[in-house]
Amino acid sequence: MNYKTIIEPFRIKMVEAIRMTSEDEREKLLKKAKHNLFLLKAEDVIIDLLTDSGTAAMSSQQWAGMMIGDESYAGAKSWKKMETTIKDLTGYKHVLPTHQGRAAERILYGCMGGKGKIFISNTHFDTTRANIEFSNAEAIDCPTEIGKKPSSKHPFKGNMNISKLISTINKRGKENIAGIILTVTNNSGGGQPVSMKNAKEVSRVCKKYNIPLIIDACRIAENAYFIKNREKEYQSYTYKKIAQKMFDLADGCTMSAKKDGIVNMGGFLALNSDKLTEKCRNELIITEGFITYGGISGRDMEAISTGLQEVFEPDYLQYRIASTTYLGERLTKMGVPIMLPVGGHAVYIDAKALYSHIPVDQFPGQSLACNLYLKGGIRASEIGSVMFGKKGPKGELIPASMELVRLAIPRRVYTQSHVDYVIEVFQEIMKNRKKAKGIKIVKEPKFLRHFTSHFKFI
Ligand code: F0G
Repeated sequence: MNYKTIIEPFRIKMVEAIRMTSEDEREKLLKKAKHNLFLLKAEDVIIDLLTDSGTAAMSSQQWAGMMIGDESYAGAKSWKKMETTIKDLTGYKHVLPTHQGRAAERILYGCMGGKGKIFISNTHFDTTRANIEFSNAEAIDCPTEIGKKPSSKHPFKGNMNISKLISTINKRGKENIAGIILTVTNNSGGGQPVSMKNAKEVSRVCKKYNIPLIIDACRIAENAYFIKNREKEYQSYTYKKIAQKMFDLADGCTMSAKKDGIVNMGGFLALNSDKLTEKCRNELIITEGFITYGGISGRDMEAISTGLQEVFEPDYLQYRIASTTYLGERLTKMGVPIMLPVGGHAVYIDAKALYSHIPVDQFPGQSLACNLYLKGGIRASEIGSVMFGKKGPKGELIPASMELVRLAIPRRVYTQSHVDYVIEVFQEIMKNRKKAKGIKIVKEPKFLRHFTSHFKFI
């Protein structure tokens, strides 16, 4: 018998209490946090959907590994284990450990980039873009047209726009393109997957023009799930085999293990090129640590080795994608406008459509994020004009292309009843949608304003 209920494929061995709060209490707490959810105390949040990064629950196997972590400065057993796991998974010749994804990006793009250089991606994640720009290079996004439309369905909305990729290479000169980056899944583009067909086409273009291809592999296991279930050719492949096939198309990867490594801290960089590796290793030693630990402790390297294997288990991946889909489908049924189809690690609400009466310069996404906290103690993040909006010559807002609110689901942390609670809170949000107020910024820093700005309801 095939039962239709997909259960969490784990038992809970350790629990962390959630402190319940009332709406009156949350009103005071939000005021104190200047209506910026990053400034709240985590203990004042009931369901924390701010990010899926570093927020996972580790398995008993991973915790057991923590006890046998080898903390030797050089050549630790735990490093050998992590290196073997990553070489087996990616097939790349060299592995460099880093404390998280952006450290791998800073080292790699610092070495590959520089003034006059250009990187092209399906969508650069914001730390990737920041590290490229920090090296004085330029980052150009080439998402597909359909990927930019929240309500239109396509199985692989995270794909690279191949014709735009080719025309950009030709326009800017192939000698100026330092690298092409394929982000899987495409986080900033809505957590949407990239097909193997698209990855193959990108790889073909890279080979033709002799440009290195780098995979941002943060969520490559989740991406493999979508390929197996949406691309006929790969139905009989294991998830790991699909990921290996994708790594095979590229020259290297960066990975934040805080996502599909199912750990709280860690990352790496893996490459085939001896020359580039040597350059990166020098950087690694200066800023992260010796080449056999990077910025990670031995116990965390043990947890990464195990996490990178557990993440490809079919029961885990089925549960993982089913829980995100469950939330997305219920919200759609209630009429909540979301980015479709539902992605892997998060559900993205189209706040501009939900609060259509709030103009973009009154930040509908920030308003929704605040209301989710007020009504239910849920913490989500605005991915719209607060995060990506720019200032025009007269100080006017040049809005982001979309006003989204991301509900990111931490791995193995919340059960179905937590998700049902989130759905119930949205019923309240929908009832009061017409009464929702806009938001204004009362204080903002120069850079990355979403982290520390102060806001007020209008
Ligand atoms: N690349 C992608 C696609 C990411 O989503 C992230 C992080 C990084 C690189 C950087 O990794 O945080 O370990 O330095 N994304 C987190 C998020 C922060 O909430 O989506 P990191």
